[in-house]
Amino acid sequence: MSQTDYRQRSAVLERHQGRVVSIGRIDESDVLDAYRRWAPVYDYTFGLVAGESRRHAVQVLNQRQGRILEVGVGTGLSLPDYKRHLEVVGIDLSPEMLEKARERVNEEKLDHVTGLHEMDASDLKFADGSFDIVVAMFVMTVVPDPEKVMRELSRVVKPGGEVMLVNHFSQREGVRGWVERRMAPFADKIGWRSIFDQSRVEVCDDLELLERKALRPFGLFTMMRFAKRDSARQPVAAE
Ligand SMILES: C[S@@+](CC[C@H](N)C(=O)[O-])C[C@H]1O[C@@H](n2cnc3c(N)ncnc32)[C@H](O)[C@@H]1O
Repeated sequence: MSQTDYRQRSAVLERHQGRVVSIGRIDESDVLDAYRRWAPVYDYTFGLVAGESRRHAVQVLNQRQGRILEVGVGTGLSLPDYKRHLEVVGIDLSPEMLEKARERVNEEKLDHVTGLHEMDASDLKFADGSFDIVVAMFVMTVVPDPEKVMRELSRVVKPGGEVMLVNHFSQREGVRGWVERRMAPFADKIGWRSIFDQSRVEVCDDLELLERKALRPFGLFTMMRFAKRDSARQPVAAE
């Protein structure tokens, strides 16, 4: 039975890395509920755990130029770390998370942040090729339709630009795999999927994977960098 069949037949079963596992579904109202609850404590809980990976990603982005879209910007923990030669625009679905980001921008006078918008990552209100770089950190495991979001990230980045993800991808083996399978049915309550396969973000033909790197702490998160292909460039003919 295909993965699609499982999705259609059951809200809680999915084929993952060769086995059928119980998986929690997330819809938009689950995300809004979960992040309304997370907003007051996010910076001191998950936000803290993810700090090292987030800082590493921003250090890489600081070597770039131009206009960055941060999708799922949350409480804006990354925003003070961007160098000021970059222009940063953030979007998020959760008004409560965004409110924290706005407070941060005002309190720390982050003039390089030129916009924070309430917006759905799967339906971005930006024209094609609006940004030099699009980054989504700890977001793809949260959004209800990751494949659709990937297509939106690719659409709004310029040809020759870059899409960066920092994300958790699940493991089949070991204690971590066991914990992830036990957590999976509670995805809608905690606000992210503990079981999430890398194949779900490799869906765009116009995005070429440049780098995949495990990040600290403990390789829990992975950074993936994709280049947006320039459609004007002719593909290199096979020898
Ligand atoms: C785990 S938090 C990550 C926040 C931030 N990127 C960070 O580094 O801490 C996930 C964020 O994604 C947002 N989110 C979830 N689904 C979304 C969607 N469809 N569109 C935009 N943002 C979304 C949530 O509201 C939340 O702020």
